[in-house]
Amino acid sequence: MTQEQRPIRVMIVDDVLETRENLRKLLQFEPNVQIVGEAATGKEALQVAKERQPDVIIMDIHLPDMSGLEATEQIRKVLPATQVVILTVQGDMEYMRRAMMVGARDFLMKPPSIDELLDAVRRAAEVAWEEREKIAVAQETGPLGMRPPETLGKIITVFSPKGGVGKSVLAANLAVALQTPDTVVHIVDAKRAFGDIAVLFNEQASHNLSELADEVDMDLLSQALLTHGPTGVRILAAPSRPGENLPSTEQLRQILDLLRNLSDYIVVDTGPLLDPYTLTALENSDLALLIFEQDVIAVRNARLALDFLAQDFPLERVLLVLNRYDKRKGISPERLQQYFRLPVYIIPEDKWMPHAVNRGEILVRTRRNAPATQGILRLMREVRERLLQQARV
Ligand SMILES: Nc1ncnc2c1ncn2[C@@H]1O[C@H](COP(=O)(O)OP(=O)(O)OP(=O)(O)O)[C@@H](O)[C@H]1O
Ligand SMILES: [Mg+2]
Repeated sequence: MTQEQRPIRVMIVDDVLETRENLRKLLQFEPNVQIVGEAATGKEALQVAKERQPDVIIMDIHLPDMSGLEATEQIRKVLPATQVVILTVQGDMEYMRRAMMVGARDFLMKPPSIDELLDAVRRAAEVAWEEREKIAVAQETGPLGMRPPETLGKIITVFSPKGGVGKSVLAANLAVALQTPDTVVHIVDAKRAFGDIAVLFNEQASHNLSELADEVDMDLLSQALLTHGPTGVRILAAPSRPGENLPSTEQLRQILDLLRNLSDYIVVDTGPLLDPYTLTALENSDLALLIFEQDVIAVRNARLALDFLAQDFPLERVLLVLNRYDKRKGISPERLQQYFRLPVYIIPEDKWMPHAVNRGEILVRTRRNAPATQGILRLMREVRERLLQQARV
């Protein structure tokens, strides 16, 4: 049903029968107006409104038992979607101000012309429908559109003590791999300088984290996000120029908290070194992916990072990822598993990876058969499985 055809449920409140009749007649000119109730007193108005739940109430100011403003205030408390249009002979500003204060939508002089009345009723009905929709969504998802705790998004932080090991490409590919038509995935670039996520998605960081440096709220956050057209992954990019203001670590925590309400998965890419941003992301993570490469120094650093993390992060929430694996390089995955005493997930060295990066493509999307794609999809399934296991405990 289009908005034009949708019936507007109207109720008329006036103590004078003749006025009610006149209003009825005027409203007959609008085919989709339905008069669903009438009342002559404030008390009656409240009762009929509760029963009929009109979209719009046309309300007289002078009622025998209370003023129309008082009645409006009471009705708006119990029926927040219902909109009230006040009709009065008094045109002074003070009245209008008070009418708006008690939640009236509009204010018309008696007697209104047909056009004035229909315009006001139509405008008020549109607001009422919008309000009803919002209330329905809030009832489904909890107050303020917040998700119930068991469906809050899961945070997966990709980190490494070393630079250039493939954190960003793996974070981007993982985000895309996790995305399905029914899931919402956000990727946050929490690298404090020279973040690469927007570039990897071939997007301009026209909106980014710096917009949340002064204040964090849901509106500002929604504005700061970009959506990657081809996949629908939503990106919270790093500032495009170094030196721009950044949110504090406390603000980053707030941002992640808000994102949990909007997402199924939040993938956080971090910079090298365990800087305050990385630590904040890790503290708030459900899963941490420690990325390292196949050489003795990288392995040793990964061990140190793991020991550091283990002080207050449960190891069953860490996935070790050996990136750019090449069997000719000597250190075998079996040896690494023994050394770490944890499973090691492998992403092979793959010439298609830099190829995709240079074309602004996300490998898992454009090359399903590439060896690295296969590794990332295995990792994605493991990520999902681990998060499900955690939810079951
Ligand atoms: N499995 C792979 N096979 C081949 N090349 C890879 C692979 N993984 C990553 N690379 C290449 O390594 C380079 C560095 O990757 P990336 O920028 O993701 O590293 P990073 O850890 O995020 O670096 P930084 O610490 O600077 O943020 C990229 O150009 C990417 O193409
Ligand atoms: Mg990076």
